[in-house]
Amino acid sequence: MDLGLTGKTALVTASSRGIGKAIAQGLATEGCQVIICSRDKDNLLKAAEQIEAKTGQSITPIQVDLSQKDSIEQFLKRLTNQFSTIDILVNNVGGMPYKRHYELNQEDWQLSFDLTFMSQVHIAETLLPQMKKRTWGRIIFVTSVAAKQPGMIIAHSQRASVVAYAKTLANELAEHNILVNSICPSFTVTNKFYEVADQVAKREGSSREQVIQQWMKSVPLRRPASAEEVANLAVFLASEKASYITGTCIQVDGGFVKSLF
Ligand SMILES: NC(=O)c1ccc[n+]([C@@H]2O[C@H](COP(=O)([O-])OP(=O)(O)OC[C@H]3O[C@@H](n4cnc5c(N)ncnc54)[C@H](OP(=O)(O)O)[C@@H]3O)[C@@H](O)[C@H]2O)c1
Repeated sequence: MDLGLTGKTALVTASSRGIGKAIAQGLATEGCQVIICSRDKDNLLKAAEQIEAKTGQSITPIQVDLSQKDSIEQFLKRLTNQFSTIDILVNNVGGMPYKRHYELNQEDWQLSFDLTFMSQVHIAETLLPQMKKRTWGRIIFVTSVAAKQPGMIIAHSQRASVVAYAKTLANELAEHNILVNSICPSFTVTNKFYEVADQVAKREGSSREQVIQQWMKSVPLRRPASAEEVANLAVFLASEKASYITGTCIQVDGGFVKSLF
């Protein structure tokens, strides 16, 4: 199937590893020129080299800390100076402390909100005018099943906010042929997967393996996803073939979410 992505330019945030990197590679494989970003410069350059070597596409790495407004400003300045056109934005970032409501302070909430919600709003709002001018655009928010199903309180609250923002944005942008959707990954094998498993193990006095085994009992497919399995949906939603899909929130979760919708 020709996805019609050849020659498009895509920005994928938080993309030196994990789900973001897999999406960047998936888009490059389909013929997109891709901009990737993250904090650690060495990892970022390495990721760009690896994706370029695998896909033969031009990958531009730009360093940014998406939790810092000044860093985002500089990043966006460089981005808009260097690229007149960004057709596809994949907003993929998030980081929440694994805590219960009584363990969270104001700072936890604010830091997480700035990283998970405000950074995504800031980037989307900056790129929208040029998408509107061309009456073509795709915006994809990579959130979490936490948006749909209660778990960690801070993740549930803030992921649901991102999905709500995306849904309203989809309505407001439909007349410009800009499609906006959210993806909700569940357990996906990345650094973060093991990081969270270790945090839970420490809290419960068990091991990483025991935690993962317990998690998998809640997944009908009885295994975690690979980052590529999440990336496949993002690539499809970015494509011409997804031209009548907007305002949705789709999980890639092996059946984990218990609700009907
Ligand atoms: N993996 C899962 O099981 C799972 C499940 C549900 C939801 N998710 C969500 O999916 C998204 C991607 O997760 P992942 O598993 O791919 O994570 P990951 O493997 O830990 O990768 C995170 C990426 O984000 C970058 N990053 C982190 N903080 C950043 C910041 N402040 N500014 C810029 N870049 C930053 C990292 O690079 P640097 O550290 O160098 O900045 C790295 O490239 C996250 O929002 C995560 O919460 C993941």
